[in-house]
Amino acid sequence: ALGPPAISTGRLPAAAAVAALVQEAHARYRGVADGKVADYIPALAKARPDWFGICVAGTGGAVHEVGEAAQAFSIQSISKPFVFALVCQALGGGRAREAVGVNATGLPFNSVMAIELNADRTMNPMVNAGAIATTSLAPGANAEERWRFIREGLSRFAGRDLVMDEEVYASEAATNQRNQGIARLLWGYGRMYSDPEEATDVYTRQCALNVTAHDLAVMGATLADGGVNPVTKERVVDAERCKRILAVMATAGLYEQSGDWLYEIGLPGKSGVAGGIVTIAPGKGGLGVFSPPLDEAGNSVRGQLVTRFLSERLGLNLF
Ligand code: DON
Repeated sequence: ALGPPAISTGRLPAAAAVAALVQEAHARYRGVADGKVADYIPALAKARPDWFGICVAGTGGAVHEVGEAAQAFSIQSISKPFVFALVCQALGGGRAREAVGVNATGLPFNSVMAIELNADRTMNPMVNAGAIATTSLAPGANAEERWRFIREGLSRFAGRDLVMDEEVYASEAATNQRNQGIARLLWGYGRMYSDPEEATDVYTRQCALNVTAHDLAVMGATLADGGVNPVTKERVVDAERCKRILAVMATAGLYEQSGDWLYEIGLPGKSGVAGGIVTIAPGKGGLGVFSPPLDEAGNSVRGQLVTRFLSERLGLNLF
């Protein structure tokens, strides 16, 4: 039982109530021992399973946090919606949608192929194929310029200069043959828009950018706030882009569990394999949770529990 659900008022509850519920969420789920820290990128296996940080950032700029909310970890797949946002902003949403796709499977409702191929061939910017294609669309004359576009853009979402974790980057670059294969395959299908090897390298860098639960909350709050960072007040992307990005996150942000996530939590979210989850309550704020142990689909176990609890108790569910 999650306790009494709050009625949605269109705003976050009063600051003291949010602060108390953030504390309660941490106390409730601190003892959960399920899940396994990712090790397919060797450097990630060094994370401590007991690291646990939670942060809520409101669109008014108030921030409430508890636990290891300042512990750095690599952003990994949580970079995907933010890079998609930057690329939509630079190219126009229509072009990005046409080039990458925004569907859960991209196949008809009664497709048998979708069942067979879902894990590898879904075409939207939240899964690796679409994410690497999105990175290949970043403006720039070469890989260096495309990387700068992405690093500086993600830093504007966070409101501080984000720095890459060199060890995570080197570790993934040495073991990302599968992503290299995906990029090359897409190149063959005409769905990569710059050199596949370069795009995979820039994608690997973007995934190795270090963030904290606090950063994720602020990044999420920026999308919740129609594209304006509520702490720095800087406009990062247009409001028109935000609602499209959030639709894609709701469709596929939690991979094959996106339907269950939407059913239980009712908000767009995105997970990363280092243990972060960002969730957006449009108009209200962003939630960042960090806890490394993951479930089978690669989503943080405590991150999901905390988000379900706070969505319910803060009255955030959109439905
Ligand atoms: O491409 C990869 O495999 C990683 N850089 C990111 C994967 C990831 O974060 C999956 N998320 N749960």
